[in-house]
Amino acid sequence: MVIHKLLLKVVVLGALLGSYHNHITEAAASMTKPGCRSACGALSIPYPFGMRDSSSDCHINHPSFIIDCDNSTDPPIPYMHKRSSEIEIFDIPVENHEMQVQFSSGRECYNSSGHNGTSSKYSGLSLLDFPVSNTKNKFIAIGCDTSASFLDLDGKFSFGCMSLCSNISDVSNGSCAGIGCCETSIPRGSFGYRISIRSFYNHRYVLDFNPCSYAFVTKDGFYNFSVGDLNQLQFNQSTLVLDWAIGNQTCEDAKQDSTSYMCTNNTICTNAENGSGYKCNCKKGYRGNPYLVNGCQDIDECADPKLNQCVGKCHNIKGNYTCPCPKGYHDDGKKGGGDGQGCIANPNSSHLMEILVGVAGAIITLLFNIGFLYLGHKKMKLIRLKEQYFKQIGGLLLQQQLGGSDRTTKAMKIFSAEELEKATNNYNESRIVGRGGYGIVYKGSLPNGVVVAIKKSKLVDRNQIEQFINEVIVLSQINHRNVVRFLGCCLETEVPLLVYEFINNGTLFDHIHNPNKSSKLSWETRLRIASETAGVLSYLHSAASIPIIHRDVKSANILLDANYIAKVSDFGASRLVPLDQTQLFTMVQGTWGYLDPEYLHTSQLTEKSDVYSFGVMLVELLTGKKALSFDRSEEERSLAMYFLSSLENDKLFQIVEDVIVDEGINEQVREVTNLAKGCLTIKGDERPTMKEVAIELEGLGAMTNPTGDCRTNVNQEELVHLSRED
Ligand SMILES: *[C@@H]1O[C@H](CO)[C@@H](O)[C@H](O)[C@H]1NC(C)=O
Ligand SMILES: *[C@@H]1O[C@H](CO)[C@@H](O)[C@H](O)[C@H]1NC(C)=O
Ligand SMILES: *[C@@H]1O[C@H](CO)[C@@H](O)[C@H](O)[C@H]1NC(C)=O
Ligand SMILES: *[C@@H]1O[C@H](CO)[C@@H](O)[C@H](O)[C@H]1NC(C)=O
Ligand SMILES: *[C@@H]1O[C@H](CO)[C@@H](O)[C@H](O)[C@H]1NC(C)=O
Ligand SMILES: *[C@@H]1O[C@H](CO)[C@@H](O)[C@H](O)[C@H]1NC(C)=O
Ligand SMILES: *[C@@H]1O[C@H](CO)[C@@H](O)[C@H](O)[C@H]1NC(C)=O
Ligand SMILES: *[C@@H]1O[C@H](CO)[C@@H](O)[C@H](O)[C@H]1NC(C)=O
Ligand SMILES: *[C@@H]1O[C@H](CO)[C@@H](O)[C@H](O)[C@H]1NC(C)=O
Ligand SMILES: *[C@@H]1O[C@H](CO)[C@@H](O)[C@H](O)[C@H]1NC(C)=O
Ligand SMILES: *[C@@H]1O[C@H](CO)[C@@H](O)[C@H](O)[C@H]1NC(C)=O
Repeated sequence: MVIHKLLLKVVVLGALLGSYHNHITEAAASMTKPGCRSACGALSIPYPFGMRDSSSDCHINHPSFIIDCDNSTDPPIPYMHKRSSEIEIFDIPVENHEMQVQFSSGRECYNSSGHNGTSSKYSGLSLLDFPVSNTKNKFIAIGCDTSASFLDLDGKFSFGCMSLCSNISDVSNGSCAGIGCCETSIPRGSFGYRISIRSFYNHRYVLDFNPCSYAFVTKDGFYNFSVGDLNQLQFNQSTLVLDWAIGNQTCEDAKQDSTSYMCTNNTICTNAENGSGYKCNCKKGYRGNPYLVNGCQDIDECADPKLNQCVGKCHNIKGNYTCPCPKGYHDDGKKGGGDGQGCIANPNSSHLMEILVGVAGAIITLLFNIGFLYLGHKKMKLIRLKEQYFKQIGGLLLQQQLGGSDRTTKAMKIFSAEELEKATNNYNESRIVGRGGYGIVYKGSLPNGVVVAIKKSKLVDRNQIEQFINEVIVLSQINHRNVVRFLGCCLETEVPLLVYEFINNGTLFDHIHNPNKSSKLSWETRLRIASETAGVLSYLHSAASIPIIHRDVKSANILLDANYIAKVSDFGASRLVPLDQTQLFTMVQGTWGYLDPEYLHTSQLTEKSDVYSFGVMLVELLTGKKALSFDRSEEERSLAMYFLSSLENDKLFQIVEDVIVDEGINEQVREVTNLAKGCLTIKGDERPTMKEVAIELEGLGAMTNPTGDCRTNVNQEELVHLSRED
């Protein structure tokens, strides 16, 4: 009997689903008020929408519900009431309160000399009352040198996605998952947008297979990525979904005013998101236009065998149906067999099958569970091994360091877990001073009063543990007064914790880009910071016992102390050269805006990549502009390109920071400019070495400060010596 009831439920559910399906396909019948035009071209227009030239009864009196039909074309084209752009209406399915519209997609094309003039710079989609559906649309960008953004019309927010690839053989059909195509979801409540498409290198390295970048918002499922689209996208308009609702009141409030309330008999009213308007829908078992009088008509389930589960006799009632017996059962011959009562199972029914299927299902589930338990157990074992492994690596490494007689590492200390917990007040949120790519940095104070920075990995991820170990290895090779001092680490915890001296004056990035601070950053100081940083990089590349490439040189990784002395930090991405000389990195390292363009081609970062990044930083110091900023116009987005083109057009002093221009040291500015230009040469081989850069900057620094500031005039040997003494 229980199974019987269960089966009945399944049957009814099936019927309802079936009716819903049909609902959509057959609904077009009478969707308009009598005497109103019901179509424009291929679009059938359901009330409360109506055409502008029809009588005012044909639509509700609200601009968003009035459709403009352009008769001049054949077939005529329906447009949404427009604010600033033409939005073609594709479909208005009244059942799910969608409005599907077509809107042009964005594209930007390039040739070998840059922008080739083909771009659709349109004013953007601007809507009155119907928001872009956040659940039914996606933002998609296509290209291999592409960064596309969706900009809110009110300028409140923007977001987007980025796709970079260098070889077409890495791209595959179908998936829009980041290689050649990227997608992201849309936030709630957007009433319009502007699309902005940018390229990092003007498609220079991908021109042969991808001359254009594209971006558009579209209905989920409208677009399937194909490799050929990189060469040319086949469409210039995409279909997107808008949500619509009536008015700006909730159902409850709207019902109060029966003259304007739109939901008719046999409907259900639901609130639109946040109660800004309401939606009417036909009750289950009815279909039609819920906004028309008698619009929701009973479905005659008995007329369509797909809609009912009756064998033989079927009785239609309002909003439902009854039948003597559902499928798989037959009348037991007694009277009054409505609603399945008095039905008995057919002898050859699927009853037995149901049981068999059920039993088989249970067995399969059981097997699965056993399998998962087994796998889970294996995974736990792996995790424990990994931990052990990590401790071994860390332990060995530390032993090496401590056992060695090298004076430089004597200062390194192993901290206990409790010690660091205490120092950071149990990793209190308020102690967080920074969040890097590899972890969180806390400020802590040791019992002896020393203030330290403690870097903690975010996740127990093998990659990140390696980054940390890597940083320990690299740091243990470095001893330089302009490098953040590494004090020690703690390996008792599941993630290693690294302890550094605390540098209290923030990052160079902050000092350059915070208007309150940048005015205090004099040319002399800028030059010295550049010189100190160049000194460190030169030392890493040549003076350290094993050459080291920093790989992530940027102003955000240069810390300043109270005297504005530069301290280079974040060696998490660094590599000792001999380890990786032959290794190719598939993962993108470094930071956009600072990243060596040659890297896209070779996938290899070299000492000259640090030179390039340093060049960008030099320009940042000169101009006070960010290395990459989507707030700037297209020509200015990559600081390196902007800088080089300004030089070509002889506009150098227009882009130099005002503070520097005011100081009037034009000769030095020109020399630093030339130096930066050299660092930003596209071909790595033609860039100067870091040593050459450092020497030149030191020379300039000596000129600024003829009395001989020890900070810039001592040579590297002395610097190392000094730091060993302290
Ligand atoms: C469009 O065509 C219909 C009939 O073909 C006509 O009634 C209507 O006035 C036309 N509208 C415009 C704006 O030309
Ligand atoms: C690139 O396009 C621009 C603008 O259409 C044109 O002036 C230039 O000659 C083109 N360059 C090449 C190499 O085709
Ligand atoms: C620009 O390049 C695109 C893609 O190669 C091409 O379709 C378009 O015709 C070009 N435009 C001009 C003005 O050359
Ligand atoms: C692209 O990848 C294929 C296969 O991996 C390789 O044979 C080809 O040399 C690569 N092309 C370039 C330009 O790197
Ligand atoms: C990708 O799909 C297009 C058609 O959409 C086809 O011509 C092409 O051969 C496919 N490429 C790959 C690599 O499957
Ligand atoms: C809905 O309300 C939430 C929170 O109250 C708000 O963040 C969101 O922007 C609102 N959405 C719309 C479409 O007004
Ligand atoms: C995209 O692919 C899915 C499944 O692969 C298919 O169902 C759908 O029709 C395709 N859409 C288009 C527009 O080709
Ligand atoms: C879009 O493409 C069609 C042909 O496919 C063309 O007629 C139309 O002018 C294009 N529209 C835009 C805005 O480029
Ligand atoms: C609601 O709509 C009415 C009429 O369209 C308008 O007068 C009123 O200002 C709207 N209220 C809000 C809160 O938007
Ligand atoms: C709606 O249904 C009720 C009874 O269910 C009936 O009294 C009323 O007349 C109907 N209204 C219209 C407009 O059909
Ligand atoms: C239709 O009738 C069945 C029982 O006969 C009931 O379970 C179901 O809820 C009814 N559906 C509607 C929409 O009233």
